[in-house]
Parts: sequence; structure tokens; C-alpha cells
Amino acid sequence: MGRLSGKVAVITGASQGMGEAHAKAFVAEGAKVILTDINEVAGAALAQALGSDALFVRHDVASAAGWAAVVAAGEARFGPINVLVNNAGIIGPVAKTADIAEADFVHVCAVNQTGVFLGMQAVLPSMLALGGGSIVNISSISGMVANVGTPNLAYAGSKFAVRGMTKQVAVEYGAHNIRANSVHPGYVKTPMMVAATDEDGGGAASAIPLGRFAEADEISPLVVFLASDESSFVTGMEHVIDGGMTAC
Ligand SMILES: NC(=O)c1ccc[n+]([C@@H]2O[C@H](COP(=O)([O-])OP(=O)(O)OC[C@H]3O[C@@H](n4cnc5c(N)ncnc54)[C@H](O)[C@@H]3O)[C@@H](O)[C@H]2O)c1
Repeated sequence: MGRLSGKVAVITGASQGMGEAHAKAFVAEGAKVILTDINEVAGAALAQALGSDALFVRHDVASAAGWAAVVAAGEARFGPINVLVNNAGIIGPVAKTADIAEADFVHVCAVNQTGVFLGMQAVLPSMLALGGGSIVNISSISGMVANVGTPNLAYAGSKFAVRGMTKQVAVEYGAHNIRANSVHPGYVKTPMMVAATDEDGGGAASAIPLGRFAEADEISPLVVFLASDESSFVTGMEHVIDGGMTAC
């Protein structure tokens, strides 16, 4: 029996990067997984490779109608959803606050913040009916501390919002055995990070006590733990996984 046996999980942004790593880890631990993403080609190929315990649904997390379709398709295939991993996110342009275009700010917040809100709202009825569930919201160290080298108010604001919304939901729904936790990775080698930084992340590796960036599959064990019943008394908390970066 896997650590996620009996779990039916939605993982957003699952076509690549950390979402892909989480989807692989979840299936390996016995979960049924609904992978969602706007990247249909890669997501469908990954779901096919993962086999009958995986289903891909094309989905923009900023769309409420899209969320309804994800829940309907997922529950028709696997039954009620009891785990949600809100992983999809974008960086948007790096610029100091005076130079951010309003449209860029709104777009980043729509994906990173509104998407997380819509996801929680979409699965809460299933979790309430089941008598429990686990929500794992992927924030960032940018939801813990300000970013000195690469200013991005929309990213920072939305990632702090994810942390706050997570606590609010944990408090509102704890009595229903629904847990909510946020995960705050530091630098992780994914297509997002590679696109946003040069080879050594603008010298960021030297600011990490472990001296390197994480691999995506080094984040997945924490997400598996938070999704599983092993974390049955863990809720409302931020979990930093950054190689020690914010310790100094
Ligand atoms: N890579 C890092 O260093 C790092 C650090 C801290 C936090 N994070 C966060 O971790 C999460 C995953 O990041 P990653 O590095 O794997 O990124 P990534 O860009 O490699 O993958 C993100 C996935 O999300 C999908 N996506 C983008 N917009 C979407 C939308 N509107 N609806 C649905 N899917 C959408 C993309 O198509 C992509 O497949 C993000 O929330 C990111 O902010 C990343």
C-alpha cells in the first residue's frame, strides 16, 4: 500500500517542472491523479505515460468554469477529490514597482492568487461531503521574504497571498478535518527557473547554505507528506524548503 493509497488528487501545472515531479511521486505512492495544465501536449503525454491512475484535463487555473470541468471529469473517473495541490504559477515580468504594467500585475495575480482561491473553492464541497481532505498550496520563498535581486511585486504579493489564504482556509475548515498548508520552495531547477535566471540564478547559489539549487523531485516528498495521512495534525502552516536560503 502506497502512502497515498485512497487519495484522489488534483495537481495543477502538472505538465512540467515541479508539478510533473509531484504527479509522478503521487502515482508512485498509490494516488489517483488528475493532472491539469494549459500545456495540453506535454500534460496528455505525461498522463499517458503514468497509466490508468492518471488523467489529464486541459485547464486554466484562472477560470472558474475550468475548475468545474476539472472536478466533474476527475470525479467521474476516480471518485470524490480529497487532495488538491495548487501548483500552477507564473513569474511575469521582473521590474521595480514603479515600472510594472497594470495588466501584467493583474495577470500574475489571476494565475497565482485567484487560481488558488478558485481551486480551493472548487474542491471544498467534495472534501466537506467526504469528511476531510488536504490542500497543499505552492507558494515560494517569495511568500516569506522580499526578493532583493529580482524585484517582482506581483509575484511577491501573490505568493504572500497564497500563504495567507492557506491559513484562513485551515482555520475555517479545520473542524471538518480539512487541512491546508503552504509550501515555500527556494530555487528549484525547472523550466520556470531556467527561463527566469542565468545558469547560476544570478549568483543565487552562493547564498544557499547547501550551495546549490534543488531538483524538482526533492520538493515532492514534502508535498506527498502534506497530502498523506502522515501529516494528520499539520495544518495552517508554511513549510519552507530552500536549502537554508532564508535561514541567513
Ligand atoms: N522553480 C522555482 O525555483 C520555484 C521556486 C519557488 C516557487 N515556485 C513555484 O512552484 C510552482 C511550479 O513552478 P515550476 O518551477 O515547476 O514552474 P514551470 O514553469 O516549470 O511549470 C509551471 C506549469 O504551470 C503551467 N501553467 C502556467 N500558467 C497556468 C495556468 N494559467 N493554468 C494552468 N497551468 C498553468 C505551465 O504550463 C507549466 O506547465 C509555481 O507556483 C512557482 O511559482 C517555483
